[in-house]
Amino acid sequence: MTIVLGIESTAHTFGVGIASSDGKIFANVNDTYRPVSGGIHPREASEHHSKVAYKILKEALSISNFSIKDIDGIAVALGPGLGPCLRVGATLARFLSVSYNKPLVPVNHAVAHIEISRLDTGFKDPVIVYVAGGNTLITSFKDGRYRIFGETLDMPLGNCLDTFAREIGLSYPGVPKVEEIAKKGKKYIEMPYSVKGQDLSYSGLLTHALERLKEGKYSLEDICFSLVETAYSMLTEVSERALAFLNKNELTITGGLARSKILCMKLKEMAEDHGALFKAVSPSFAGDNGAMIAYTGALALNSGVTISLEESYVSPLWRMDEVDIPWRKD
Ligand SMILES: Nc1ncnc2c1ncn2[C@@H]1O[C@H](COP(=O)(O)OP(=O)(O)OP(=O)(O)O)[C@@H](O)[C@H]1O
Ligand SMILES: [Mg+2]
Repeated sequence: MTIVLGIESTAHTFGVGIASSDGKIFANVNDTYRPVSGGIHPREASEHHSKVAYKILKEALSISNFSIKDIDGIAVALGPGLGPCLRVGATLARFLSVSYNKPLVPVNHAVAHIEISRLDTGFKDPVIVYVAGGNTLITSFKDGRYRIFGETLDMPLGNCLDTFAREIGLSYPGVPKVEEIAKKGKKYIEMPYSVKGQDLSYSGLLTHALERLKEGKYSLEDICFSLVETAYSMLTEVSERALAFLNKNELTITGGLARSKILCMKLKEMAEDHGALFKAVSPSFAGDNGAMIAYTGALALNSGVTISLEESYVSPLWRMDEVDIPWRKD
């Protein structure tokens, strides 16, 4: 068994988790930066991360009852994400690795969202819908990697709804707030339903919804209802094709939008139509968190994955399907 301390700092959240390769989570301490106004400002978010890093690290160690000497390795999310934010986590990880002579383990943030979902749901070989503020994709394991079976070509679904929320004066996180308004909507207003093969496009949908709002002819409730309905139906359609094509019998959702009851309900109904089981990752592991980096780092270290200090630069555009997954067999 391998015990790893993992650091998450790719975007809004700074987190430290401690986990073992056999799936025990000993600590999961996170702190999310909330912009006073507007969207995420990478430099401000990175300043937040630097400020809370020491406190979060100390708290995670104290909750786990481990001292850093008991830890087998230091894992860090090196991407994808925002450069200034990623560098805070990477710097702390390198420092701990050198100071305590522990191997450094690179973790891809998207792979971590997937592995925590497999651990939490108990699913062995699911089709995974990964939806958050910075990512929207459908993936499953094949020939040593997580392959992508559909993704957004422009804006992630979470970002689309968060931006709409911001435009109507609501603070981050916008998705649950837009959903609350959407529940009061009654009439569907035509929206651009933009599915291109297995890929999705959300930027036209956002523009369209904002234009309808400016016209002043429709209620905010109906616009939110139509926006949410269209956005989630598009994602459900491509997820359904992936599930049918791959002929798998488990479907899961991970990432911040796994907390959405509306989206989960759509995916569940679709999965059951295909005789597949559906489970969402638990809310505490849905958004960005340190535990998922620690657990994925433990799986990786257990398979001999480490990185030298010199090579441990951050990769803001690191794609999930470039990562070998030696801890899984076909
Ligand atoms: N209760 C909720 N219901 C639905 N969506 C939610 C809820 N809480 C947060 N969200 C949405 O989840 C998204 C944030 O996801 P997450 O915490 O995984 O961070 P992220 O930085 O966007 O992640 P990534 O880098 O993985 O794309 C935002 O779009 C936010 O509005
Ligand atoms: Mg995330």
